[in-house]
Amino acid sequence: MTRLTDQAHELISTVLRPGETAIDATAGNGHDSCFLCQTVGPTGRVYAIDIQETALKQTADLLAEANCFQCELICCDHSQLHEIIPSECLNATGAIMFNLGYLPGGDHNLITQRTSTLTALETAKDFLRPGGMMTILAYPGHPGGDEEAVAIDQWLNQLSASAYQTETILARSNSATAPCLFVVRKLEP
Ligand SMILES: C[S@@+](CC[C@H](N)C(=O)[O-])C[C@H]1O[C@@H](n2cnc3c(N)ncnc32)[C@H](O)[C@@H]1O
Repeated sequence: MTRLTDQAHELISTVLRPGETAIDATAGNGHDSCFLCQTVGPTGRVYAIDIQETALKQTADLLAEANCFQCELICCDHSQLHEIIPSECLNATGAIMFNLGYLPGGDHNLITQRTSTLTALETAKDFLRPGGMMTILAYPGHPGGDEEAVAIDQWLNQLSASAYQTETILARSNSATAPCLFVVRKLEP
């Protein structure tokens, strides 16, 4: 079975275009940022956010190896998206990625939190352009990740069905602890 990280990339590839803006709301080791940079190309722009400097250093190294220079690295809590992303990106961003949980190879106690994740998602949806897509990869299998995934599911369900289309993809069926990929598409008016 294709990994959910790869599935997120495949889905985003169907909507994100060269020259566009994209946001990686959890930069981590930089794999998603690198993918977004390669998709928008040299004329595009990527904002990579992480709460940890360690993660941004990893991301910077990966981007340099891949010759990606169109990425702005921002050390910040993603719940502050409105303050850190330029307002011209509102309703104009092709893709936004969240890959929740902890930094692989880093401090496993520093994880995304339900409240700040929900604040970030609520803000992020306003940055999507019509036809744009947000992916949220959640990990119910670790402490805190279960309640975070439930809260995201509830958040998805209260989105206006005339404005957003949502989908949930599970890694394995019949397992409450399996990672899940939430997908939000902003519909054309
Ligand atoms: C699973 S990793 C992301 C993996 C990454 N997207 C990649 O491709 O390598 C989750 C990241 O979220 C970051 N994080 C946790 N809480 C955050 C917050 N409130 N705001 C921004 N980043 C946060 C962690 O520091 C960690 O690096």
